[in-house]
Amino acid sequence: MSLLDRERFISGQNIADMLGVSRTSVWKSIKVLKEEGYSIESVTNKGYHLKNSPTYVNPTALSMLISQSSLFDRVEYFKTTPSTQKEAFSMLPESNDTFVVVAEEQTEGRGRFDRRWDSPGRTGVYISLVLRPDIPISDIIRFNLFISLAIAESIDEAFGVETGIKWPNDIYIHGKKVCGFLTEVVSESGIINAIVCGIGINIFKDETVGKIPTAISVEEAAGTHVHMDLDLFMKTFMGNIEMYYNRFLSEPFSRIRETWIEKSVIFGRQLRITESGGTFHGRALGITEAGFLEVLDDDGNIRKVISADVEL
Ligand code: BTN
Repeated sequence: MSLLDRERFISGQNIADMLGVSRTSVWKSIKVLKEEGYSIESVTNKGYHLKNSPTYVNPTALSMLISQSSLFDRVEYFKTTPSTQKEAFSMLPESNDTFVVVAEEQTEGRGRFDRRWDSPGRTGVYISLVLRPDIPISDIIRFNLFISLAIAESIDEAFGVETGIKWPNDIYIHGKKVCGFLTEVVSESGIINAIVCGIGINIFKDETVGKIPTAISVEEAAGTHVHMDLDLFMKTFMGNIEMYYNRFLSEPFSRIRETWIEKSVIFGRQLRITESGGTFHGRALGITEAGFLEVLDDDGNIRKVISADVEL
């Protein structure tokens, strides 16, 4: 798979020589890749050329990524499941492992505030990351800031679009939501036992997501000239998650503050903020070191917001 190129043809003989296998074995592997959803063109005297990757996360490619990761011990893959978040929670007591749960489709995808997360088959990335840092629970708001940058930058890098972060847990393109994530924790005496971070990204155009006026897919935003390469995205994403997670463990928010603020879409505009206590309007002033949002409300008071629904 890694020898195939979008720009150039590579001959079967070349692949065979590089891998030290027979031509028949190359041919069989190409057949398997095609069955897995890769569109591969074969031309006599030229060889093979990758036209398109599948519209779902490839389990083989993901296992390879996880085996190289210093963050995760294993991956759990589902064609369909009610929710990767639910699966992850049910597996927590089995071990002390760190792992990722990925599904091609979710039938009961769940968002923040118990909202539904539409997760049609083979159109998006639905993934839950299980991490086990030895840190106090109060650090979790800061975790969201680092992870939001990892996700936003991965979408930008892999698909050539420009996302923005809507504090605390949404990624936007063109004023619409392309990704949401949900960070839940299991803790004991104020110390985290496990973080379960569920991330949903609308990647390919789809009717269900298309009907939601506030949602957008990466494909819609990127336009037709962009190759939607999910393998490339997953590679970029796993790399960025690892990098930003390690930075979260070793650096204060101030080290990424400037980058985060530049990537954010909440500054310089009127916001409608709903907390458990009610709704108010105001303008964002900044983010505190602990990750709280500071807002100047319409009555002139400065408020610190911990968890809320922010509308632009
Ligand atoms: C939100 O914007 O409210 C958060 C959405 C989180 C959706 C993801 S998809 C993978 C994981 N499994 C779920 O059921 N939810 C999260």
